[in-house]
Amino acid sequence: MKPFITFSCIFLLFTTISAHSFSEYVTPNFTASYLELIDNFGTFLFSHNKTFKVAVFNPGSQQTSFYLCVIHAASNTIIWSANRDDPVSDSGKMHLTVKGITVLDENGNTKWSTPSLKSQVNRLELTDMGNLILFDNSNGSLWESFQNPTDTIVIGQRLPVGASLSSAASNSDLSTGNYKLTISSSDAVLQWYGQTYWKLSTDTKVYKNSNDMAKYMAVNNTGFYVFGDGGTVFQLQLPLANFRIAKLGTSGLFTVNSFSGTDLKQEFVGPGNGCQTPLACERAGLCTESTASSTPVCSCPPNFHAGSDTFGGCVPSNGSYSLPLACKNYSSVVSFFNIGSVQYFGNFYSDPIMYKGNLSSCQNLCSNNCSCLGIFYKNTSGSCYMIENEMGSIQSRDGGDKDMLGFIKAIVVASSIDVDDKQSSQNGGFPVVAAVLLPIAGFIILMVIFFLVRRRLTLSKMQEVKLGKNSPYSGDLDVFYIPGLPARFDYEELEEATDNFKTLIGSGGFGTVYKGVLPDKSVVAVKKIVNIGVQGKKDFCTEIAVIGNIHHVNLVKLKGFCAQGRHRLLVYEYMNRGSLDRNLFGGGPVLEWQERFDVALGTARGLAYLHSGCEQKVIHCDIKPENILLQDQFQAKISDFGLSKLLSPEQSGLFTTMRGTRGYLAPEWLTNSSITEKTDVYSFGMVLLELVSGRKNCYFRSRSHSMDNDSNSGGGHSSTSSITGLVYFPLFALEMHEQGSYLELADPRLEGRVTYKEVEKLIRIALCCVHEEPPLRPNMVAVVGMLEGGTPLPHPRIESLNFLRFYGRRYTEASTIVEGHENENGSVMLQQTIMASDSPTLAFSYMSSQNISGPR
Ligand SMILES: *[C@@H]1O[C@H](CO)[C@@H](O)[C@H](O)[C@H]1NC(C)=O
Ligand SMILES: *[C@@H]1O[C@H](CO)[C@@H](O)[C@H](O)[C@H]1NC(C)=O
Ligand SMILES: *[C@@H]1O[C@H](CO)[C@@H](O)[C@H](O)[C@H]1NC(C)=O
Ligand SMILES: *[C@@H]1O[C@H](CO)[C@@H](O)[C@H](O)[C@H]1NC(C)=O
Ligand SMILES: *[C@@H]1O[C@H](CO)[C@@H](O)[C@H](O)[C@H]1NC(C)=O
Ligand SMILES: *[C@@H]1O[C@H](CO)[C@@H](O)[C@H](O)[C@H]1NC(C)=O
Ligand SMILES: *[C@@H]1O[C@H](CO)[C@@H](O)[C@H](O)[C@H]1NC(C)=O
Ligand SMILES: *[C@@H]1O[C@H](CO)[C@@H](O)[C@H](O)[C@H]1NC(C)=O
Ligand SMILES: *[C@@H]1O[C@H](CO)[C@@H](O)[C@H](O)[C@H]1NC(C)=O
Repeated sequence: MKPFITFSCIFLLFTTISAHSFSEYVTPNFTASYLELIDNFGTFLFSHNKTFKVAVFNPGSQQTSFYLCVIHAASNTIIWSANRDDPVSDSGKMHLTVKGITVLDENGNTKWSTPSLKSQVNRLELTDMGNLILFDNSNGSLWESFQNPTDTIVIGQRLPVGASLSSAASNSDLSTGNYKLTISSSDAVLQWYGQTYWKLSTDTKVYKNSNDMAKYMAVNNTGFYVFGDGGTVFQLQLPLANFRIAKLGTSGLFTVNSFSGTDLKQEFVGPGNGCQTPLACERAGLCTESTASSTPVCSCPPNFHAGSDTFGGCVPSNGSYSLPLACKNYSSVVSFFNIGSVQYFGNFYSDPIMYKGNLSSCQNLCSNNCSCLGIFYKNTSGSCYMIENEMGSIQSRDGGDKDMLGFIKAIVVASSIDVDDKQSSQNGGFPVVAAVLLPIAGFIILMVIFFLVRRRLTLSKMQEVKLGKNSPYSGDLDVFYIPGLPARFDYEELEEATDNFKTLIGSGGFGTVYKGVLPDKSVVAVKKIVNIGVQGKKDFCTEIAVIGNIHHVNLVKLKGFCAQGRHRLLVYEYMNRGSLDRNLFGGGPVLEWQERFDVALGTARGLAYLHSGCEQKVIHCDIKPENILLQDQFQAKISDFGLSKLLSPEQSGLFTTMRGTRGYLAPEWLTNSSITEKTDVYSFGMVLLELVSGRKNCYFRSRSHSMDNDSNSGGGHSSTSSITGLVYFPLFALEMHEQGSYLELADPRLEGRVTYKEVEKLIRIALCCVHEEPPLRPNMVAVVGMLEGGTPLPHPRIESLNFLRFYGRRYTEASTIVEGHENENGSVMLQQTIMASDSPTLAFSYMSSQNISGPR
């Protein structure tokens, strides 16, 4: 009781002295401890405008963990700490001398200090950005907290290439944790014990703007960026905020947060998938994404149960086994628990340690490597992945590919090795696959296996010769190796999967598409390529490897391929709702506005990724509703990307013609200007217009409907003048934009379930996308920003859209010839008429016809 009263008196005294004495700097010799400053919660320095403060601070409740911290005052967020790995008690001291800062424990031992400085310290100052700086007598900076980041960067701070952020162990223990964010010249990467679990470049929310070498990462009031010499390399546009931090959190999540006056608000998180953080479900726990909530559900893999509280995670149910620590418990007796079809966060970012191997050779690599704690074996390709150093959580794979098999390495607890183990190894029962091999028994078994396998190999070789069949794991493709190739299928396998190409689900410029079911029951779309001629197998595979490595939620996933003899097939994930044209123009249920918007946004994101998110820029060249496929919840995915590369130069003439379908073709195709990603932007704009109207951009207008329109629009315009005939919708859209009558453009089937603002938004974006001059069109990253609302809506340039009037006039003139044909096929006749009377290339550029391109 007595010391407490004494303390209080001192503090009272101190408060009265110190209340007005905060300044933005202190000079040597200066000393501060929590106890001395208890009424100010350890604070001894405020920045000039009081945004940040410096304190000897205890973030938890343990009276032994005090840190010298820079804190954002309003949100009480620690943005930097000095002695994170060596906390002191409440009587530990921060000491500023001419030599720098030291943090001392209560006995005067140095726990932390600034490095030796090149001249004497004049003062320690906290700037309004939150940078703690030691200045010398000529105002030169000797040392800055911004250059020694812990787990956070703030506005004004740069995290240069080569630097990293390290997580804190917990919110009350700031010591260096196990997660690390590192900036390289091409990416920002999150790692845990050397295992990568996230890359900025593959995050779907972040856009890559250039291939420049990255220089540093930063946040500012409007976003989060990685900068190179020539501007931003990666960007994430965010709402305007006064205070924003990027932080590597204690559970390994990298977040960008802003402060709005009350709370820190999370604006971005990587990884976005809850099961992709290494310890989402502790060690060896099984993580399942929950559809009901954002937090994943944890369980244990088969034959595992929850470990004791102190250990956490899951352990083998059979108490005779335990999980080894990397290179800690040496044991020659190793077993593998089969945990079924699963995934592991590290597999997405690491290369296999072996390609085209068999399961037992994969397991052998692990048994003999003390840092290996488990393996994942991809059954279809024979790739083998290893968990090294530390085991994290396993991801369950509901519905996903079933061909990644997981095996956790276990060792026998010393006391339980006995004679019985020999038996279980011989019958190889589940769950033990490569079971306990005692040295002698093991040798004998190995010899037996060796001879058996030799015989089998010889036999299967003979079979291959007889049947002329290439096994997926051997055969002619083995002569070269291309990294990143997706799974390879036999022609026979695909024949079987598609029931001899029975169910045709589509046809396009490249050939026909069939529905198929793989042996693992996954449904696929098999594309039989017919129009590329016979192309070198290696060239083909090189392109396939590129396509196969492009992964984005809005791009249809290439699961595998077949290149056997003259056959060239691609195996894609199956999209159960079919293509956008069927959903939008077909007679089925009306696509609601929100669904249309989601399709637009998804498509824009997919294209933005193709243009700037992947290693090689990919120009699609054939964006149209037929190539936008839908899945449940109307998630849109773009198909056929990357295929333009499969064409030889001679064939691309045909290709160009093919692209002329239905008015998605940008003017530059006709003028021989270079084809760039802006060509896709044009086509995207045309698709946006169709999403709004719910019809093809060229359609027949019935008499009654046109009367309505004429009375509203005032008439007299080329696209609306004829009572019956073809409407060239892009021109109609331009005219309605000029009049501000956006609702005229909305699909009548929506019956008003869309607002003026919503239509205006899509129309304005669409018109900007179809500007005649490619440089005036926005890039897809900007389009995504506009759709999302982060970027202000653009103003279409009328002078750059006048070419639509020219197209439209040609169009109405021609339509009088076929007046009266109010059916779907009318457009075909019309197209022929125009082709006869006009330049065919021009006709291609704005016609509406499904049958225009030969190969279809
Ligand atoms: C700071 O303290 C050191 C050692 O106690 C002393 O030598 C020095 O003169 C002091 N400097 C100032 C500016 O008071
Ligand atoms: C304090 O200064 C910083 C940097 O100049 C500025 O961004 C911030 O808005 C200021 N805060 C206040 C409360 O004035
Ligand atoms: C150093 O900076 C401080 C504060 O900005 C200023 O008051 C002082 O005059 C400067 N001294 C010199 C030598 O430039
Ligand atoms: C943030 O940085 C980006 C990229 O350099 C820049 O375009 C933007 O104007 C900056 N925002 C502010 C508020 O300075
Ligand atoms: C546990 O594993 C050992 C060794 O493989 C085996 O002998 C034993 O029967 C197993 N126990 C249970 C309960 O399955
Ligand atoms: C492996 O080593 C760790 C620490 O070195 C120990 O905690 C664990 O019990 C050991 N496991 C076995 C099976 O010996
Ligand atoms: C697995 O592959 C290895 C090395 O390629 C080979 O020696 C072994 O015989 C194969 N085992 C089986 C079961 O096929
Ligand atoms: C274990 O495997 C890893 C990955 O292949 C390799 O880098 C490491 O050198 C291996 N360690 C030993 C001891 O073989
Ligand atoms: C691995 O693939 C082969 C052939 O595709 C299949 O027969 C086998 O059952 C698969 N193994 C597992 C464990 O799924």
